[in-house]
Amino acid sequence: MNISAQDQEKYLQELKEFLKIPSVSADRSFHQEVLKAATFLKDKLLEAGAQVAELCPTKGFPVVYAERMADPSLPTVLVYGHYDVQPPDPLDLWESPPFEPVIKNGRIVARGACDDKGQLYMHVKALERMNQRNEFPCNLKFMFEGEEEVGSDNLGPFLQANKEKLKADLILVSDTSIFSTDVPTITVGLRGLSYLEVEVTGPNRDLHSGMYGGAVANPINALCQMIASLKDEHNHIVIPGFYDKVLTVSDEERGLMNQIPFSLSSYQDALGINAVSGEMGYTTLERVSIRPTLDVNGIWGGYTGEGAKTVLPSKAYAKISMRLVPNQEPDEITRLFTEHFIAMAPPGIQVKVTPHHGGEPALTPTDSAGYRAASLAFQKVWGKTPLPMRSGGSIPIVSMFEKVLGLKTVLMGFGLDEDAIHSPNESYRLDHFFKGIESIEVFYKELALQS
Ligand code: BES
Ligand code: MN
Ligand code: MN
Repeated sequence: MNISAQDQEKYLQELKEFLKIPSVSADRSFHQEVLKAATFLKDKLLEAGAQVAELCPTKGFPVVYAERMADPSLPTVLVYGHYDVQPPDPLDLWESPPFEPVIKNGRIVARGACDDKGQLYMHVKALERMNQRNEFPCNLKFMFEGEEEVGSDNLGPFLQANKEKLKADLILVSDTSIFSTDVPTITVGLRGLSYLEVEVTGPNRDLHSGMYGGAVANPINALCQMIASLKDEHNHIVIPGFYDKVLTVSDEERGLMNQIPFSLSSYQDALGINAVSGEMGYTTLERVSIRPTLDVNGIWGGYTGEGAKTVLPSKAYAKISMRLVPNQEPDEITRLFTEHFIAMAPPGIQVKVTPHHGGEPALTPTDSAGYRAASLAFQKVWGKTPLPMRSGGSIPIVSMFEKVLGLKTVLMGFGLDEDAIHSPNESYRLDHFFKGIESIEVFYKELALQS
């Protein structure tokens, strides 16, 4: 099953071509490029042996759908991934241009190298390899979307409208990471998300900070105080009701999770920090997986240009995200935040809260044929039995797969923290790319044996 040097070279060339297309879904000016990535993918799926590959229109970017059906008696796997990428900003921090992929230190460096074009492309190449051998232990369906990084708003309706077409036994996704090359993990939980923007208004115009300072509430000062007061001295979020629906994680699961050989000092070194910070009573691994969070993602207002301008601003803004855990509900959390934030405004300050996208948390089973097949695939290709691990990130569509299609998901991803997804110099290890392809092939074989 080993991939020949010649095939490796070919796969990398193709991945580079794919990564060269700047499919940034968040930025209107890249619209044509996102469409180009969809067409590229459709063509590659056909070349790889799909019997059907098509662009399915949605209100946003198209879903690339493909099929390689072998025999109705075999299990059917629906593979999900996303061909859109995050914006590459800040550009000046990239060592090589984000859309000119280069190979460096055993990695391919480009925006989307890991999240998710590199991981998605492993599935296209696994299909090609199985097609070359004419060996299909499962029926395969593929669904690749172009709006994951902007909230997958149009994918829910797509699932609703295509239930028959998407019929399958389980969903397979490679869009997560493992703990390390030596300690492979299977993701068994994802956090949800509630994302909103706040606008805080003081006086009706920007004021002279000498003439008015001290007598009129400053919206930036007020916003900072309001944000700071959202957590207590133990980093516990104080929004009333915030934790009410949080499912308690069993001691057994916490025990299993803390078996992962996490090194605090390597973690701190990798991030250039001399201490971690988080909710009291939880380990770092727990803080980034089984506990909800509240973080400011951006904050602005007043004068930020060169030099000094003495101004008491009229407005201040912040973008705030809350990562959620089972069974917190994004709409409810957004409402609780909004009520609390508005009630908290000091005299002379008005607050407006605008919700952005959200997403539900998800848990995936470990006692399923899909999990066992993924576990065996890791054992055979990586030489280690993977540990189950919850991830801090979000893939909102996973809960929709269950709600709309009634399907469980297997999160078999191969990224690493150091791949720096969403950051400058995103990369993906070449050995993970190739081992990932092999793991996917073994997964299908093992799934067929399990069924
Ligand atoms: N692939 C990530 C999510 C992820 C990353 C899961 C690492 C597990 C480990 C995905 O593309 C992503 O970035 N999701 C967004 C959510 C979305 C609503 C914008 C996120 O988590 O911020
Ligand atoms: Mn992703
Ligand atoms: Mn992402």
